[in-house]
Amino acid sequence: MIVTIDGVAASGKSSVASGVARALGVPYVSSGLLYRAATLLGQEAGLDLTDAAELLLHLRSRPLRLEPLAGGNRVWQGDRDLTPDLHASGVDSGVSVVAAHPDVRAWVDGQLRALTAPFVAEGRDMGTNVFPEAPAKFYLTASPRVRAERRARERPEDVEAIEAALSRRDALDMAQSAPAPDAQIIDTGPLTLDGVIGVILAALPA
Ligand code: C5P
Repeated sequence: MIVTIDGVAASGKSSVASGVARALGVPYVSSGLLYRAATLLGQEAGLDLTDAAELLLHLRSRPLRLEPLAGGNRVWQGDRDLTPDLHASGVDSGVSVVAAHPDVRAWVDGQLRALTAPFVAEGRDMGTNVFPEAPAKFYLTASPRVRAERRARERPEDVEAIEAALSRRDALDMAQSAPAPDAQIIDTGPLTLDGVIGVILAALPA
């Protein structure tokens, strides 16, 4: 079976998906990493990220591989592990432009739908667009301030600047970030990581 965990930026999706996947003994799939990898490669090649055709030509000439593990996903291009570079601020600020292109979305969706279930899939549109038939769907939210404070613990950046960047990304990602009508919405603000994982595990169909 497929469990989908969608939500806004820095709502804890990856950590929650990893914890749920580990408890179930299945891998998790981080769709955002493919958008991030597309952005990184476009930036490194000096491409205009608003030009989807040029970007896709570039991506198709250098195939990427998403390695979905329960402990953490990695993205490879040949022998190069792109993962350590995917959460740079430069990628954060370019990724929404890349993710807005329908053809780039189709390129990511094709790679995700080719994976063999069972797994936990996390992103923005896993429950609505990529795996609408999934029997268990969740959507994580938290206020911009709570999310910025969490992220500030991982990065040496000012919390105000992080909050502004998150709010900007929320606005740009709005089109592909609506919760599925059948998703359970979880406000992670008052919960610990284990608390969120526990809510999801308790809600899964037997
Ligand atoms: O999940 P994460 O914040 O790493 O995703 C990075 C970016 O990738 C998002 O800001 C969004 O633009 C894009 N994304 C998307 N659809 C997904 C996953 C991520 O548009 N399913």
